[in-house]
Amino acid sequence: MATSPVNFDRISLFLICLGVCLSQCEDIRHSLDDDLLLPYTKSHGPSHSHRHVRDCQPISNGNVTHENWAASRHSNSPVVESKIFISDISDDSGFQKWVSGHITVVHDPLRTVSVLEPGTPGGCEQNYRKLVELTAKTRKCLVAQNGGYFNTITGQCLGNVVSDGKLVRNSGGIQNAQFGIRKDGTLVFGYLSEDDVLDQVNPFVQLISGVVWLLRAGEIYINESIQAECDKTQETGTFQSFVDVLSARTAVGHDAEGRLILFHVDGQTKIRGMNLRQVAKFLKEQGVINAINLDGGGSATYILNGSLASYPSDHCQDPMWRCPRAVSTVLCVHERLCQPEDCSGHGRCVDGQCVCQQGWRGPGCANLTCQPPECGEHGICTENGCACDAGWMGVNCSRECAAGFYGDGCNQTCTCTNGGLCDPVHGHCICPAGFRGDSCEQECPIGFYGLNCEQLCQCHDMCLCDTVTGNCNATFQEVRNISLHKADHCLVTEMWREWRKEEETRTTRPYLSEQSWLVVCTLLATSLLASLTSNLIQTCRKCKARRQRQEYSYVPLGEINGAAERGRGQRTKPGKGLFQQEDSESQDSS
Ligand SMILES: *[C@@H]1O[C@H](CO)[C@@H](O)[C@H](O)[C@H]1NC(C)=O
Ligand SMILES: *[C@@H]1O[C@H](CO)[C@@H](O)[C@H](O)[C@H]1NC(C)=O
Ligand SMILES: *[C@@H]1O[C@H](CO)[C@@H](O)[C@H](O)[C@H]1NC(C)=O
Ligand SMILES: *[C@@H]1O[C@H](CO)[C@@H](O)[C@H](O)[C@H]1NC(C)=O
Ligand SMILES: *[C@@H]1O[C@H](CO)[C@@H](O)[C@H](O)[C@H]1NC(C)=O
Repeated sequence: MATSPVNFDRISLFLICLGVCLSQCEDIRHSLDDDLLLPYTKSHGPSHSHRHVRDCQPISNGNVTHENWAASRHSNSPVVESKIFISDISDDSGFQKWVSGHITVVHDPLRTVSVLEPGTPGGCEQNYRKLVELTAKTRKCLVAQNGGYFNTITGQCLGNVVSDGKLVRNSGGIQNAQFGIRKDGTLVFGYLSEDDVLDQVNPFVQLISGVVWLLRAGEIYINESIQAECDKTQETGTFQSFVDVLSARTAVGHDAEGRLILFHVDGQTKIRGMNLRQVAKFLKEQGVINAINLDGGGSATYILNGSLASYPSDHCQDPMWRCPRAVSTVLCVHERLCQPEDCSGHGRCVDGQCVCQQGWRGPGCANLTCQPPECGEHGICTENGCACDAGWMGVNCSRECAAGFYGDGCNQTCTCTNGGLCDPVHGHCICPAGFRGDSCEQECPIGFYGLNCEQLCQCHDMCLCDTVTGNCNATFQEVRNISLHKADHCLVTEMWREWRKEEETRTTRPYLSEQSWLVVCTLLATSLLASLTSNLIQTCRKCKARRQRQEYSYVPLGEINGAAERGRGQRTKPGKGLFQQEDSESQDSS
């Protein structure tokens, strides 16, 4: 079955068996472990280079050492069709009358065939050996049979192994017959350089190493294989008998349609089964184009629908049969996998078809249900449909926010006053002429008008203007809500000039500096105070006059002080002015 490095005990056992077999085959009672079929006496595979293989192959093949074939992709066919065959292959040797086995046709190899590591992913690293049946259960294989060769002592996987896209083992270019499936579905049979194995442009998703390329391009290729895979062509004893001995066998190939053909034949080394020439001939008759021989020997196992089908396991102690033995990698045919296998995390895989979750679509559930341009220029597709940019709403984000609202989902309320318009994205207010501020709550400052209060009033004497239109005919009361006399304000002409000069040299921004405000305010306050004082004095004087029963006639403000002064000595009580009265009272109290 498998190769083993320097294992002279086993090899001598093998040779003894061979000797005995030649004389008395039918009487041999094999133990479970003596049915080993070893192609090599030393380590696995020949030590010569890929170039050697290329140069030694028939000229008709040029420099190409492997064959490519596009795999079939019949997605409506059943995953596998399995047939039992019983074939009479009696030949000169006499003993053999019939053989039985399985031919399996795989319609969609890329999605249904996997190379499995023994037992579990990572099994090669652990040097596991497991029953094919057990490994097959881990992946619910519909059909499974022996895969690549392995070290029968240590259990180490041999050759190249790529399992479901993961490079498990790189043989370093050893020239054994390979079977692989590339990412694009190309089936590959033959000899591969290390560069071929590691190719990243169209990498292998499954790859396994056999021994002996049975059929190449429809022709038996065994003699060439012996040249390519045997280290020294002269010393072919072991390898030659590996090819010629009757045994259980497994093989893999493809037909003209690109369907994968798995072959399995029951047997017992040197007693029943097929030699490789018979296998190749049989496959050729079945229309197989390229095929390689895989691990088999005494333990070729065929699993169908999860159960052992190669031979009745309850009879495995019967010398006619062989109990299944723990082996290494397994060639598995399973239900169609989805692409990608996990349906991008957004769906369930049902018979190779992703059934997508709500909100997702596409063969691999990789696309959102909504697609550009469905959400227009103002939204993006999400699992929950269109997500609109701030300021936009509607199923496909084609409507702007209603007046008075802004932001994500248009659920923020605008704060603009005085007729300001609200920017639907950020809620910034766009103020009408005459107003400014975050919510347009401020009227233009004195001396300015228009959009953003950016215009300077151009009125005569720097009098204030209408904050909206800049019209100078507006009365001050119309313009301002504070009580100032137009006269007073127009007195500040000089101050304005000065301020403007200062502002224009300092900055183009048409607002008053603090200093200017101070000056203007001081001025206005002074003028207001003066005006107030004047009013107050007048009023008090009137009061006093009423109290004195109109004894005194009206005296203008300017003269009051002087008059009071003059009258201090002459008139005792009534002659006193407002301020003197207060003075004396304060003197009394202190
Ligand atoms: C193989 O031969 C073809 C022409 O026959 C040539 O174009 C190609 O480069 C060769 N490839 C290698 C790897 O030598
Ligand atoms: C292959 O080699 C065997 C013996 O080694 C020989 O009998 C047979 O004719 C060869 N086949 C071909 C096609 O050369
Ligand atoms: C596997 O078993 C199911 C029923 O369990 C059966 O319908 C199907 O035909 C079987 N597949 C094969 C390849 O025999
Ligand atoms: C927006 O959605 C409606 C109905 O869902 C559709 O008829 C219309 O074409 C969509 N508009 C755009 C720009 O996709
Ligand atoms: C506005 O809508 C967004 C998204 O639709 C949401 O996250 C946010 O909590 C809402 N805000 C208010 C005040 O409703």
